[in-house]
Amino acid sequence: VLHLASRTDPGWGDWACAHVDAILADHAHCEKKAASTAINLIFRYGGEVPGIAAPLSALAREELEHFELVIAQLHRRGLELGRHLPSPYAAELMAVCRKGEPARLLDTLLCCAMIEARSCERMQLLHAALERGAGPAGEDRALVDLYASLLACEARHHASYVDLAREATGVAEPVLRGRLAEIAAHEAAVIARLPSAPRLHDNAAR
Ligand SMILES: [Fe+2]
Ligand SMILES: [Fe+2]
Repeated sequence: VLHLASRTDPGWGDWACAHVDAILADHAHCEKKAASTAINLIFRYGGEVPGIAAPLSALAREELEHFELVIAQLHRRGLELGRHLPSPYAAELMAVCRKGEPARLLDTLLCCAMIEARSCERMQLLHAALERGAGPAGEDRALVDLYASLLACEARHHASYVDLAREATGVAEPVLRGRLAEIAAHEAAVIARLPSAPRLHDNAAR
C-alpha cells in the first residue's frame, strides 16, 4: 500500500515514454537526491536517535546503486547526466514539516515515505507503457527490466520510511496513521499545482 491521496492519470505513462530521455535524466537526479536525503538524516539524527543510522545508510547505498543504474542507461542511449533544474516538489512537500522534535523527525520521515510512494506509482505507469511498446523506447528491454526492479525497490522504501517513522519516534499508531494521511493529502495538493514537465514528480496533466 502506497498511501497516496491522489492517482496519476494512467495516460502519463505513454507521455513519459515519449519523453523518456528527459525522464531518465530527471530520474538520475532523483536517485542522487534520495541518497543525499538519507545521508543528511544520518548527520541530523544518527547520533541521537538509536537504530536510525544503519537503515538510513542501507537506503542511501541502495539509492546510489539506482543512481549508477540510471546513469548507465543514459550512457547506453548516448546521453550524459547533464545539469538539472530540480522540481519544486520536494521543497514544497517538506514545507509541511513541523519545527520541534520529535514532530520534525516524524514529518520528515513521512514526507520521504510519500516521495518514495509517488516515485513507485510513476515508475509503475512508465513501466507499463514501456512494456506495451509505446513511444520510441518501447523496444528497449533493458529499460523495461530496470523499471520493473526499481519500482519494487521504491515500494519497499516507502514501507521502510513508514516503519522508521514509527520506530524512531515511538509515536502511537493512530497518530502515525493520522499524520501520514495529512501528509499524503498535502503531497497530492503539491503535485497538482506543479507545472507539467517530463519529470517523475511533476503535474501529470497536459
Ligand atoms: Fe531509488
Ligand atoms: Fe527509493
